[in-house]
Amino acid sequence: MTSTDAPDTSPSPLGLLAELTYACPLHCGYCSNPLNLSEYRDELCTEDWLRVVGEARELGALQLHLSGGEPLQRRDVVEIVRHGSELGMYTNLITSALGLSRRRAEALHAAGLDHVQISVQADEPVGSDRTAGTASFARKYEAARMVKEMGWPLTVNVVLHRQNIDRIREIVELAEQLGADRVELANTQYYGWAWLNRDALLPSRAQLERAERIVRERREQLRDTDIIHVLPDYYAQYPKACMGGWAQRQLTVAPNGDALPCPAAQSLPLPRASVRESSLPWIWRESALFNAFRGVEWMPEPCRSCDRRDVDFGGCRCQAFQMTGDAARTDPVCHLSPDHELVEEVVRRVGATEDAVVDELVPRPHPRDQR
Ligand code: SF4
Ligand code: FES
Repeated sequence: MTSTDAPDTSPSPLGLLAELTYACPLHCGYCSNPLNLSEYRDELCTEDWLRVVGEARELGALQLHLSGGEPLQRRDVVEIVRHGSELGMYTNLITSALGLSRRRAEALHAAGLDHVQISVQADEPVGSDRTAGTASFARKYEAARMVKEMGWPLTVNVVLHRQNIDRIREIVELAEQLGADRVELANTQYYGWAWLNRDALLPSRAQLERAERIVRERREQLRDTDIIHVLPDYYAQYPKACMGGWAQRQLTVAPNGDALPCPAAQSLPLPRASVRESSLPWIWRESALFNAFRGVEWMPEPCRSCDRRDVDFGGCRCQAFQMTGDAARTDPVCHLSPDHELVEEVVRRVGATEDAVVDELVPRPHPRDQR
């Protein structure tokens, strides 16, 4: 049963992350999409997405992030952008840029698209195409130039890892050449395919320290460009406040209609919630999945009596599950966690070498090629 008139005691989501499809022409080994990609081939139809966007707006969401996989693989992306835009949402296309022809860009512009984020794998074609598993650097370069020409604000997003972090200076220079308004240097988040490839991707502490020094310098020099550097939490004392707290601000809908408090939550052994069966407002407010770790009541020690429990919310549930098999444990990244040794052990192992062995990466396949 669905109901949209449940009493509204929960927070409102800031934005909807609409993962339109997991189809993608790239094969990055750091992809955080789920491993069982073929199970997501039965995608929501256009009408479903239009309804979902409307329901997210009804819940108070002001931002619509279109992602995947590669959202441009969906023919209806322009229609979905137009709908979000007509509802007054800030629309953001998160893309590899493959498929962003001038004709498509003009249609998206006319539909009201507000912002474009392009992912770049490296600062030069050989490394970039190797990581992407396909020739793509030149097309990304052209597409980024076109985005600026058309007057969109551009974010260049680079997932950092052991194999590209030593070229962070050149990466920032590339983003500058492309006219990026914002550069997101985000160390890999270890979910999905990135979890499989973790040891080949996690930089050493020395690599990170060098990178941080360079980012600080570039920030001083490039005062008009916003440079965000997201560090790997494995090296932090405290965990990240993942998603700003479970089901507090973020809402994801996967290609098959699964609604999720975070993009990696499919992996958790929790009851599913699907927009094919229930309305988004009901899922957000009432479902067992969204209420599983909301607030602080569920917390074990040491979080329960910790004065940071409202700051980091006990860290990441997906990371806790991946590392300990129990999503309700304190995130092992926290130095106070009884499981912290699990993180220290990985850091020690990868710190023993800085060699980047490219062949070690398991490439993320296209869902149609997965059995
Ligand atoms: Fe955060 Fe829990 Fe660690 Fe306290 S014990 S800092 S609440 S993860
Ligand atoms: Fe799922 Fe952090 S990624 S809660």
